Amino acid sequence: MAHLWSGRFEGDPDRSLLDFGSSFAFDRRLFEDDVKGSIAWAEAIERAGVLTAEDGAAIRDALQQILARTADAAFFASAEAASDEDVHSFVERELVARVGDAGRRLHTGRSRNEQVSLDLRLYLKRRVPQLQRALTALVGALVDRADGAGAALMPSYTHLRRAQPILVAHFFLAHVAALRRDHRRLSTVLDEVDELPLGSGAIAGTSYPIDVHALADRLGFSRIVANSVDATGERDFVSSFLHAAALSMVHLSRICEDLILFTSEEFGFLDLADAAATGSSLMPQKKNPDPLELVRGKSGRVIGRLTGWLVTMKGLPIGYSKDLQEDKEALFEAEDTLRGSLGALDTVVRGLEIRDAVSGSAASGLLLATDVADYLVAKGVPFRDAHEIVGSLVRKLVAEGRSFEQLTPVDWKAHSPFFAPDVAEWVTPASSVARKRTPQSTAPDMVASALREARQWVTSHS
Ligand code: ARG
Repeated sequence: MAHLWSGRFEGDPDRSLLDFGSSFAFDRRLFEDDVKGSIAWAEAIERAGVLTAEDGAAIRDALQQILARTADAAFFASAEAASDEDVHSFVERELVARVGDAGRRLHTGRSRNEQVSLDLRLYLKRRVPQLQRALTALVGALVDRADGAGAALMPSYTHLRRAQPILVAHFFLAHVAALRRDHRRLSTVLDEVDELPLGSGAIAGTSYPIDVHALADRLGFSRIVANSVDATGERDFVSSFLHAAALSMVHLSRICEDLILFTSEEFGFLDLADAAATGSSLMPQKKNPDPLELVRGKSGRVIGRLTGWLVTMKGLPIGYSKDLQEDKEALFEAEDTLRGSLGALDTVVRGLEIRDAVSGSAASGLLLATDVADYLVAKGVPFRDAHEIVGSLVRKLVAEGRSFEQLTPVDWKAHSPFFAPDVAEWVTPASSVARKRTPQSTAPDMVASALREARQWVTSHS
């Protein structure tokens, strides 16, 4: 059994160790990137005078035939493929099988150490935009919900205790803001990926006069790497991708947590579509938010992949070590999990129904205390004093099981001479949100313009 490195060794390697070290089962995903990189490499070494035009043409032709088999599962399941160490060995073996000696010249001046970095970069260049489109779709779904919410009100929460009234639209747009940062973070990852590692050789560079700038151009990279030692042994772009994916999953998980709470019997502000819920095999009344719980649960895996990967990297000497092969399963699992979760959440969000009567009535009551204090401030009372006055009023109301709405003008006056009859219309959820002034606030006109801006963002990113 010949390997890409058999010459140095006397006997065959241990079969179980070969299996242990093989990455073909998973790096097969890099197949088309590997072949495209090899076609460009063949052109580059031909231009550098390493390959004859005839060999160059034969190699490129054979690689095109190999590329045409991308969707052919049987091609990857042959008996020979079972012994291939990785996707690079697989492609090279198939090439040699087609063009013999010419194929054996392709690897001149090139190492798998740079090839695997190239493949991963090409892979991320085509896959990250797909994740960004899925993120945009989910943002679109949340923007639709925000739009559909109209003037509906709900309480906002800090410490999971009622804080102040907000528009339901403002709640949905809060999650939109986080997902838009995720989208931008993925663009930053793409920028980091955008460097051609070829020309680095195994570690020291290559002795052949390769025009790496032309090669970068040909493969769609805007820059070349700065240092061959660094380039062959670093995977910071993988770490950055995993971080971007993990943080996105954290955001999805928090959306899920909110939706699980707000669709529960206890809150009841939102309702899940029947199609987005599951029942219980025992309790007939149950409408469980399984997909949301699963996304929340799966966020753990992606965070785990990020931490695990950073631990793998931290002890490595500079230059390539086989430990780096662990990058691929981490990356692929994070990618798959994020994609699946974005799709699931998109479906759930599109089916959400807003129960504005319930959310609106929860937005009334003692959570208007800050507005009462602001009222006193408007009458000239210093805020700290106003806070005291309202605090003691709240204490009294809690003890009596009452709220601001039940106070008569006489009750108000008895508590502080600054309260006049106009306090009643000041202290409502609708006037509370309407009084907000800053662009990021829950004021209806601010939310309306945030909604318009978000809608434009979705259109320009779809
Ligand atoms: N399968 C290897 C990886 O994923 C490719 C590079 C192998 N290089 C080497 N010198 N063994 O990292």
